[in-house]
Amino acid sequence: MLNHFLSQVRDQVSKNIEFVIGDSNHIEKAMNYSTLSESKMIRAALIFASADTHNFLKNESKVTLATSVELIHTYSLIHDDLPAMDNDDFRRGKKSNHIVFGEADAILAGDALQALAYEIIADDNNLSDESKIRAIKLLSNACGKNGMVLGQHLDIKSESKDISQMEIENIHSLKTGKLIECAVMLGQLENISSNEKIFKSFGRNIGLAFQIIDDYLEATSSSKKLGKDINSDEKNKKSTYINIVGIDKSLERSEELAKSAIDEINDEKISNSEMLIELARYITKREK
Ligand code: IPE
Ligand code: IPE
Ligand code: MG
Ligand code: MG
Repeated sequence: MLNHFLSQVRDQVSKNIEFVIGDSNHIEKAMNYSTLSESKMIRAALIFASADTHNFLKNESKVTLATSVELIHTYSLIHDDLPAMDNDDFRRGKKSNHIVFGEADAILAGDALQALAYEIIADDNNLSDESKIRAIKLLSNACGKNGMVLGQHLDIKSESKDISQMEIENIHSLKTGKLIECAVMLGQLENISSNEKIFKSFGRNIGLAFQIIDDYLEATSSSKKLGKDINSDEKNKKSTYINIVGIDKSLERSEELAKSAIDEINDEKISNSEMLIELARYITKREK
């Protein structure tokens, strides 16, 4: 059931990515190269699953919002791989964007992906103006100076440092958790309910769990399976969840986070939440 759901989401979102980027100039080619490479699209899936708990969002708008988050996520990966950041040559099973297009165009493709993410929300005539503004605010807040960008800064600043479990949780929640939480909240757009807090907390918990598992997989899996370099954290002397608390405690913590996320949704008896719950399970059990 989950696989079918994921492949439907990926199909719709990939088609829309192709449509909104186009293919006429060099920057568009660089944008397509990374956004259309094979990826999990877990953030897109979270938007669909979150939106499926109510009936207020049209499918076209789910596709818009999911595309928007995947564009921002891909921009963050292109920049994350740059020599000034993690300096990784391999991403999504292929050479990193800057290896193929050069650093300048990789930076620009990332910039253009970010701008496009907001433009397509503004262009979605199925959303009210109020919803568009809320969506843009949610996204900009999640990826900006108090969200993903701050997390990326702290991640780099913490290289070769001894930091605490609390500090690594803060970094992971910012660099990765914020956008995942945002995806869950975007799925709640136009749903006027008292459950906002539950969805926020769900997103926060699975967002942190997602990055713990990212650290775990880098320490235990293979480049071939993950489609990216597995020596990156070591090469950059990164502080990771694994080197701070160890493998067993990292897995326990991610299980605990997923369990709290699932329990809260179940306790509130949120309707049609099966797929959200499946995704929370998948995030801690995933193999890539
Ligand atoms: C990788 O994200 C980077 C992190 C924020 C942990 P994903 O594991 O979702 O990568 P893709 O999108 O499937 O390539
Ligand atoms: C990536 O974190 C986070 C963002 C791009 C915002 P990592 O640097 O740990 O992820 P990978 O291992 O390169 O995918
Ligand atoms: Mg990084
Ligand atoms: Mg990286």
